[in-house]
Amino acid sequence: MMQTIFDVIKTKAIVREWKKSGNTIGFVPTMGFLHEGHLSLIQKSVSENNRTVVSIFVNPTQFAPTEDLDKYPQDIQADTNMCGLAGVDLIFLPTVEEMYSNYSTFVDVEGLTNGLCGKSRPGHFRGVCTIVNKLFNITTPDRAYFGQKDAQQLAVIKKMVLDLNMDVEVITCPTIREKDGLAKSSRNSYLSPEERKAARVVSQAIFEGERLVKSGVKEVANVVKAMEDIIQTEPLAQIDYVEIVDGYSMKKIEKIEMTEKSLILGAVAVFFGKTRLIDNFIVN
Ligand code: PAJ
Repeated sequence: MMQTIFDVIKTKAIVREWKKSGNTIGFVPTMGFLHEGHLSLIQKSVSENNRTVVSIFVNPTQFAPTEDLDKYPQDIQADTNMCGLAGVDLIFLPTVEEMYSNYSTFVDVEGLTNGLCGKSRPGHFRGVCTIVNKLFNITTPDRAYFGQKDAQQLAVIKKMVLDLNMDVEVITCPTIREKDGLAKSSRNSYLSPEERKAARVVSQAIFEGERLVKSGVKEVANVVKAMEDIIQTEPLAQIDYVEIVDGYSMKKIEKIEMTEKSLILGAVAVFFGKTRLIDNFIVN
């Protein structure tokens, strides 16, 4: 039977017992309002581990004061049903108080967090790394599952795990999309019908960027221009960034050099009204 646990000490005790009996632990951190993207991570965890823990926590330290913390969508009942059907063993559902009362410690991954979303959202990745570190310490997973949809987050978490010698394998899961290509996101629920229609240009730009890089275009400026042109066909779309970077360092590049080791990340963030959507492609 799936359990929903609100406190840290109980969650730790349950996981400790599971591990004592020789079970492997898979962990999927989320902010809830679960969709098929989250579900794909959960299903992979359930298939690869004896026990799966899902956390649902809208983490205040990763939101800037001007952002959508207060209106972030929630539906704990629907989330619980989805987790139950998927074979989750434990939902960790702490309060802000439980995670951050009298709190002073933060984890900052330098360098990788300077550009892209780190630039548009100062302090965001510090909040993400801090909460993920705490959640790893509470759930002590063998494997933790993250979506390619948040490519910079994934790179930053992998770096933190490496730098801090954490005993967890970070597993990358592909981006799950709507029929028209839009990457699934809890934030898609903010879009008006007109904005939702307009938002198709985001994935269209991503697919075109990927196609151009794969077809051998070397000039980053040309790929970026082609992607921007697609997005700008929509008057409702306001570009935050369109960039091609090195997929390991997250640093901007000018020429696309394809070697055995190279990883090219094309990433975009686009506003539709107040709603900020992100998407990306990787080529290696
Ligand atoms: P959240 O946005 O809820 O996403 C939780 C996980 O689901 C992340 O690893 C994200 O990359 C993945 N995900 C979201 N949409 C996806 C999609 N369309 N396809 C595949 N995977 C998708 O990311 C966070 O929460 C938070 O920053 C968190 C890591 C939980 C820390 O608070």
